[in-house]
Amino acid sequence: MIGPKIYETVADMRQAVDAARAKGKRVALVPTMGALHEGHLSLVRAAREHAGHIIVSIFVNPTQFAPTEDFDAYPRDSDADLKLLAGLGVEGVFMPPAKEVYPQGFATAVSVGGPAEGLESTTRPHFFGGVATVVTKLLLAALPDVAIFGEKDYQQLCVIRRFVRDLHIPVTILGGPTVREEDGLAMSSRNRYLGADDRRTASLIPQVLGEAVERITAGEEAATVLAQGMARLTQGGFTVDYLELRDAETLAPVDPKGTNAARLLVAAKLGQTRLIDNMSVARPTTGWR
Ligand code: PAJ
Repeated sequence: MIGPKIYETVADMRQAVDAARAKGKRVALVPTMGALHEGHLSLVRAAREHAGHIIVSIFVNPTQFAPTEDFDAYPRDSDADLKLLAGLGVEGVFMPPAKEVYPQGFATAVSVGGPAEGLESTTRPHFFGGVATVVTKLLLAALPDVAIFGEKDYQQLCVIRRFVRDLHIPVTILGGPTVREEDGLAMSSRNRYLGADDRRTASLIPQVLGEAVERITAGEEAATVLAQGMARLTQGGFTVDYLELRDAETLAPVDPKGTNAARLLVAAKLGQTRLIDNMSVARPTTGWR
């Protein structure tokens, strides 16, 4: 099996992208922080439908972690990652050292309002600044035709769509559906932090979300359903950061008179492990309540 080419500098990756373009290939970028699982791989497979040349980036981005968060402990396993990507026939992997992305004297940040406000930002105010800055850099470094991100991190996807539009970055952003374990838990590199008991409890998140989606779609009042969902998660041992119904595109609170679809988003901690998930909610035929 021929593995992907590995690039550690922007210049080397750009040269490869230029060469692929010269051969008439479309280029896709799949940004990741490594510790790859089936969720990431589903994005790579989706990328193949849009591009003859796929570049996966693997970079644990320090600026999206607060000092108190798990940057040092974040799982890193590039040998396993490269094997998985070779199995999918990925052409290139961009694995820059931190000093390539943030050289001495780096002094720029991309700051996003709108969909970046609230939800994750309430407990992780540093997060979307870090994500927007690194994703802007990755998009401008590779200048792919398309870049693919998971709906698993739904607010992140909305934020990326927004700054790409606002900054006229000439890349099409695509979203891929959330890949789940058999019991419904959304796959995440952080799931490996869960002990056996917490791992069993974790499936309460997709259960509560799924039931809430059904009940809201059937016309029940969202506030009641969400309060009950919060109570179930808390009783199950979670510390809930939020469980909220938002406009699926702007992430603003749902306009009761509006016709847009909505998204139900949750973040909750089980011990030290913070889990996030979300599901789409179609507008009830009777309107939002
Ligand atoms: P990371 O958590 O490694 O995720 C990389 C991509 O995989 C993201 O677009 C994420 O939404 C997607 N993903 C993760 N779990 C998924 C699942 N279960 N199903 C489908 N897609 C899934 O998200 C990041 O890295 C970083 O913030 C990054 C965008 C790379 C910027 O540093």
